[in-house]
Amino acid sequence: MTTSADLLTLSPVIPVVVVDDAAHAVPLAQALLRGGIGVIELTLRTPAALAAIERVAAEVPEIVIGAGTVTTPELAEQAVKAGAAFLVTPGCTERLLNAVEDTGLPFLPGAATVSEALRLYERGLTALKFFPAEAAGGVDYLKSIGGPLPQLRFCPTGGITPQTAPEYLALSNVGCVGGSWLTPKEALAAGDFGRVETLAKVASGLK
Ligand code: 3PG
Repeated sequence: MTTSADLLTLSPVIPVVVVDDAAHAVPLAQALLRGGIGVIELTLRTPAALAAIERVAAEVPEIVIGAGTVTTPELAEQAVKAGAAFLVTPGCTERLLNAVEDTGLPFLPGAATVSEALRLYERGLTALKFFPAEAAGGVDYLKSIGGPLPQLRFCPTGGITPQTAPEYLALSNVGCVGGSWLTPKEALAAGDFGRVETLAKVASGLK
């Protein structure tokens, strides 16, 4: 059974995916797998998202499919029903955290400041999403947090590129990074899943 800490070790990059058409979900998951990526954070930002999670969970069981952009207790519940194996939140409120914990699924709660990270640590949570990574201080900020809070490990997401990912991955408190660059909107719209596979191949080799 995957734990929240395990989520940071599945891949150097967790693809953050926005799907406009649920029919794209299965071919994109298969393309990511061919490229060596075994995990997806499928964001609940579009009307197609829940159906997309359902399809991947049913048809591509080899990939670990999670729901991202979980911003309300209702979305957490819907993601579980759709078959999500983990949840990711961009930030946290008490109500949202309680709901996400109640699902029993592993999850990455979002934090952008030391106080937010400390509040999560108080609840026993040590695997966190650092969002929005670049806008909130990037590599330097995470390096600074590592001094007083070495117990915490992060998946920084937001504004990270294949070029900057290695700087994050080199930090001792970073397990993996998240990014939307593996599944460009144009490639999905054009059915160009070969491009997704190529981008995944590069991302899965990042260190
Ligand atoms: C997220 O939800 O984690 C971000 O929107 C992904 O950020 P990116 O598009 O800058 O990679």
